[in-house]
Amino acid sequence: MNWQKNYKNYIKLNEPLKNKTTFRVGGAAKLFSEPEDKRELKLLIIFAKRYNIPVFVIGAGSNLLVSDKGVNGLVLKLSSGFFKKISTKSNCLEAGSAVSLAQLIRLASDKGLSGLEFLAGIPGTVGGALSMNAGAGGMAVGDLVQKVKVMDYDGNTKILRKKEIKFAYRKSSLGKYIILSCILKLKKEKRAQVIKNIKKYLDYRRDTQDTAYPNAGCIFKNPRGHSAGRLIDLCGLKGRKYGGACVSAKHANFILNRKGATAADILKLMRAVKKNVKNKFDIELEPEIKIWE
Ligand code: EPU
Repeated sequence: MNWQKNYKNYIKLNEPLKNKTTFRVGGAAKLFSEPEDKRELKLLIIFAKRYNIPVFVIGAGSNLLVSDKGVNGLVLKLSSGFFKKISTKSNCLEAGSAVSLAQLIRLASDKGLSGLEFLAGIPGTVGGALSMNAGAGGMAVGDLVQKVKVMDYDGNTKILRKKEIKFAYRKSSLGKYIILSCILKLKKEKRAQVIKNIKKYLDYRRDTQDTAYPNAGCIFKNPRGHSAGRLIDLCGLKGRKYGGACVSAKHANFILNRKGATAADILKLMRAVKKNVKNKFDIELEPEIKIWE
């Protein structure tokens, strides 16, 4: 095909995605690219549109389950230096979508800026965190947003102000765009206090969550007024296994890839968990992780 000649420097074929996710499962992307900058990203978007190829964007892959069959489309990973720029101006922090949450928090604490500490220990990127409105303990990243620079799926760049974006519990209206960068508004605080806050969140995560094996964080959203982890725990499902996948004994809303799990093992375990919670509490759990099937 003609496009293969024109795009062969940008696009890899059948690129395994397994090691690009924290779950370490799943098949390959039929097409995969890591654009150098906005111009290359735009070329790829226009290419995908022209050939009617679905586009998927991967960040740190920390909230993602890729099916064993892989992804029949173009997977884009924004990982170049262009998407990793980060700076501060007064109380505001500007960050590219590929900046890790760890880097974001480090810069904020170095500059004595508070507000992001609740994200400490979450292994994601700025783009991923914004698109799913990542949060913890009643706070979410959307609360701090001032502006987000995005590209639409026609290749146009736009700046969205906060009032043009909808943020809700673990979701946002940014899903219809590719996130390029954002400006977050923080508040001045003593550095020592910011560091103390970060430590509190890290300690809580270490004490309550399970990172001994590859995982994708919390699997299900918390139903209104409940903790999914607690409901699953009350069903006695800690330690429940299917193939290489296992419900964590420490936090029941974590599934661990203990021993070469497949995506099918994890999906099967998720279905069993959902069924048990539905039967016992008449509550329908909804996945928090993204599933690419
Ligand atoms: N609980 C149990 N058994 C369990 C797990 C939890 O009884 O196996 C109880 C806890 O004892 C506590 C309550 O459930 O009383 C809530 O647990 P936790 O504080 O761990 O919070 P969570 O609601 O399970 C949420 C977020 C986490 C975030 C934590 C900490 C969701 C789905 N989960 O978990 O986010 O780290 O609060 O703030 O909103 C993620 O997004 O991937 C994630 C893990």
